Amino acid sequence: MNNNEFIPLMVPDIRQEDIDAVSAVLRSGMLVQGAKVAELEAKVAEYIGIKNAIAVSNGTSSLYLALLALGIGKGDEVIVPAFSFMATANVVELIGAKPVFVDISIETFNIDIILIEKAITRRTRAIIPVHEFGLACDIKEIICIAKKYNLKVIEDAACAFGATEDNQYTGTFGDVGSFSFHPRKAITSGEGGMLITNDDELARKLRALRNHGIEIKDGKTEFFLTGFNFRMTDFQAVLLISQLTRLNEILEYKDKLAQAYFTGLQDCDKLKLPLVPQNKKHTWQSFHVVMNDDIDRDALIIQLKERGIGTNLGAQCMPFQKFFIEKYKLNCSKLFPNAMKAYLKGLVLPLYGLLDENNIRYICSALKN
Ligand SMILES: Cc1ncc(COP(=O)(O)O)c(C=O)c1O
Repeated sequence: MNNNEFIPLMVPDIRQEDIDAVSAVLRSGMLVQGAKVAELEAKVAEYIGIKNAIAVSNGTSSLYLALLALGIGKGDEVIVPAFSFMATANVVELIGAKPVFVDISIETFNIDIILIEKAITRRTRAIIPVHEFGLACDIKEIICIAKKYNLKVIEDAACAFGATEDNQYTGTFGDVGSFSFHPRKAITSGEGGMLITNDDELARKLRALRNHGIEIKDGKTEFFLTGFNFRMTDFQAVLLISQLTRLNEILEYKDKLAQAYFTGLQDCDKLKLPLVPQNKKHTWQSFHVVMNDDIDRDALIIQLKERGIGTNLGAQCMPFQKFFIEKYKLNCSKLFPNAMKAYLKGLVLPLYGLLDENNIRYICSALKN
């Protein structure tokens, strides 16, 4: 991309081969869930090394189905980080349970594991740890806490398809993992989501719940549950299959651009760079920095836009948003100081395959100026 052109926050890298693959499906006339969805599920399961992958309509419906399939509902509490995209807390509320918010680390933007046990009550049924911006949270320690208190773990890996902790893929640690294929993710189908699990019975329920409760047994259709239509289409699936073949290349390139940001901003004392622990592989869904308290982040977004650079805030302090603040009336500055700081001072910089290191240098110098 030319530095004289506007550099948007994100442009999906859809190539001719992806378009050709989608065109072929469109010409086939098969426009709903079919063989291509099944092929994608098999390929994702093989890539991740998991028994079951279940494609769904997006990363919100996937979280909702996970809660439903695990039997979580009215009267239950579910622990979520205070800082994430709203979907993480919305699904808990929509299922009839209560989201219990826990503050994050301001260095990794992931849930602060030290605070989790204090948030557990006799009503707690599950934890939804988020791998924020594509960096694995301290998932192994979270699994230990969950085992101790007999809690289910739904990994919200919406941004973290391909991320690892100790070489193990995010989404494979808990009872179930959830991914999103929204256009800001490493590979995209426009809208799209995926659930993964090694639990065959849970997978059976999830498959039925996304498709009206249907199961085909001995060639006969049985509606053994009440379900939704949360299906992915075959043309979305084939778009993902096509990009999946270059996922490793995409992630490596994104890491190279992230390193260019680290180099370009290392001497900038007006912001804090993200921390990436040694044992974790980041997918860089977002390169998220935190501006110093004296910087007006919103004014900075406008100034950068005037210089031809698209940036945005990273995610929300969820309990601070209108619905939750009115319902639970939590003192967010006191209870979630790091989530509030990330929400008010966090800034996401452009990072995607259509950019090069020259663009990153340009963005760094504009930011520093
Ligand atoms: C952490 C997190 N969870 C859930 C979602 C919801 O995914 P989708 O937009 O595919 O519904 C997102 C979306 O970006 C997300 O960032």
